[in-house]
Amino acid sequence: MMECRFLVPERDALMHSDARTSEGQDVLNGFKMAMRRLASTVTVITTALDGRRYGMAATSVTSVTAHPPALLVCINQSASIHGPTIANGRFCINLLGVDHDDMVGPFSGQAAGEDRFAYGTWDAHSGGLPYLLDAQANLFCVLTKRVSYGSHSIFVGEVEQVRLCGDTEPLIYQDGGLYRTLGLPTQS
Ligand SMILES: Cc1cc2nc3c(=O)[nH]c(=O)nc-3n(C[C@H](O)[C@H](O)[C@H](O)COP(=O)(O)O)c2cc1C
Repeated sequence: MMECRFLVPERDALMHSDARTSEGQDVLNGFKMAMRRLASTVTVITTALDGRRYGMAATSVTSVTAHPPALLVCINQSASIHGPTIANGRFCINLLGVDHDDMVGPFSGQAAGEDRFAYGTWDAHSGGLPYLLDAQANLFCVLTKRVSYGSHSIFVGEVEQVRLCGDTEPLIYQDGGLYRTLGLPTQS
């Protein structure tokens, strides 16, 4: 039988302030370890402002509703794309494919500003919104809501247009690393 465990102390221990501190640490460490097991497709969110392009690797993209077609992405308020996304009011979610692994480093801090767009082949949609030409999918969104939560903002985008390319072969982020789609169904 596989080994499973809680990463928080027993409830009684929470009566002591020291335990409360260590409980917070345990929860944070446990949260980070659990999130390594939440496999996600890697995306690059893009926007543009005053003729400048902005892009950032993000895995916090989730579908919200189909009616209307809407998704959310959580963006750190310190990220360079945060302000321009609000100011523009439009953004694009580019779903990366298995051959886009060399873009993840530059779009997560190894390059800055326009230099990031030296990686991948980009075109401009209306309003100069950058989109990755061979992305698995491009979802062009209008920002309809922003909720500030802790260090991040939750951006809700209503999808105005969708573009699809090729077969379904998303680039997966899991356990701190990049993976190709295994393509093995749980039942054959
Ligand atoms: C695979 C991966 C997924 C990421 N997902 C997010 C995310 O969903 N939201 C976020 O704010 N930062 C995310 N980041 C971190 C940002 O890409 C990184 O901090 C970026 O450098 C911030 O932008 P800036 O350098 O333009 O300020 C992710 C990084 C990686 C490598």
